Amino acid sequence: MRNFCYYAPTEVVFGAGTEQQTAQLCKKYGATKVLVHYGGKSAERSGLLGKICSLLEAEGVAYVKLGGVKPNPRLSLVHEGIALCRAEGVNLVLAVGGGSVIDSAKAIAWGVPYEGDVWDFYARRAEPTTALPVATVLTIPAAGSEMSNSSVVNNDLVEGTELKVGFSHDTVRPVFSILNPEYTYTLPPYQTACGVTDIMMHTMERYFAPEDDMELTTAVAEGVLRTMKNSVFEVLRDPENYLHRSQIMWGGSIAHNDLTGCGTTGDWSTHEMEHELSALFDVAHGAGLASLWGSWARYVYQENVSRFVRFAVNVMGVPCDFSNPEHTALQGIEAMERFYHAIGMPTSIHELIGRDITDDEIALMAEKCSHGGTTTLGSFKTLKREDMVEIYQAAR
Ligand code: NZQ
Ligand code: ZN
Repeated sequence: MRNFCYYAPTEVVFGAGTEQQTAQLCKKYGATKVLVHYGGKSAERSGLLGKICSLLEAEGVAYVKLGGVKPNPRLSLVHEGIALCRAEGVNLVLAVGGGSVIDSAKAIAWGVPYEGDVWDFYARRAEPTTALPVATVLTIPAAGSEMSNSSVVNNDLVEGTELKVGFSHDTVRPVFSILNPEYTYTLPPYQTACGVTDIMMHTMERYFAPEDDMELTTAVAEGVLRTMKNSVFEVLRDPENYLHRSQIMWGGSIAHNDLTGCGTTGDWSTHEMEHELSALFDVAHGAGLASLWGSWARYVYQENVSRFVRFAVNVMGVPCDFSNPEHTALQGIEAMERFYHAIGMPTSIHELIGRDITDDEIALMAEKCSHGGTTTLGSFKTLKREDMVEIYQAAR
């Protein structure tokens, strides 16, 4: 294992009715004027948005609203949010929605006190020193952004290039996050499955790492994975199953607040390679991950066959063939792909985008992902640009 620092400062308020505490919590964290940031219509339709606004009014907390965050959030709206917050003297950004809304809120929070363009942080040209406080009322368990220090944004302002880039800094860990599983009842099956896929991948990207000796961390990870795998079928069958919606919602947070990775380096290759897919084709992040993971796993499993055997047996329930561990490892990968199909996720790029991907598109993604061949991905197995091309080819 390696040394680690565990930092999870977000006040999580979990359960039915907890959104009632939103305004008091905003005040607790010093808000006098709030930006209520949201996405398309889902938070309006469920009544959550209206409720939050009424609660703020009742507590005497002023607010302005900015909706319209799209999945794979765009920099142009972030700029709009920064200008609005400055003009209105906003001092807390409240995201009501999922990962895209929260990530857009985090970018706004960095941008308001910064003199330059907030994209400087994503482009690694500058480091933030401060940010407005961010808080969340989560509506989709998936990205884990409600406790993470990351934000992933699409730069739609550069002509001709699709740039989706993540940046992490503790200044935007949400001060509080409200998680009421009842507000996830309206999630369509596809978004539910995308969310669970992302949650499992946040766990697996930490699980398949060079360090595999931290038994406690491994056991937590396997517990999260098994629970997500079971609960997703329960909620697909019965969308208003409070207990299983709850397990998935809390799973989303602990999968990405670093608890499932204490003592491990993590290997984020599938995530990095997926960001190129969602940049180029504007697909849902979770579905993009499912389309790539099997191809990544087959490409790398020989680096540590026993880790894949453990995954096959403890997570996927594959019987262990002691005489042929490689076979068990591969059966685990196949079982995971069958699971993806069973919940409606793609396991190839063709299934993801509905057509064949071209060689040029693959070359472009590998080029961007490796910054023109100058950087590598991963730690379980280090991937160069040509390895990325092979994985995209295998996933096509
Ligand atoms: O826009 P609305 O109408 O709200 O609809 C959304 C959206 O279309 C809908 N939705 C959300 N809650 C709903 C609902 N529909 C019905 N009922 C509800 N309760 O779901 C759709 C997807 O929303 P989005 O916020 O995009 O989903 P998700 O939470 O999966 O976020 C994905 C984004 O997070 C990034 C991804 O790259 C992607 O851009 N990630 C962020 C991370 C982080 N900040 O730590 C880590 C992740 O690995 C990930 O990269
Ligand atoms: Zn993710």
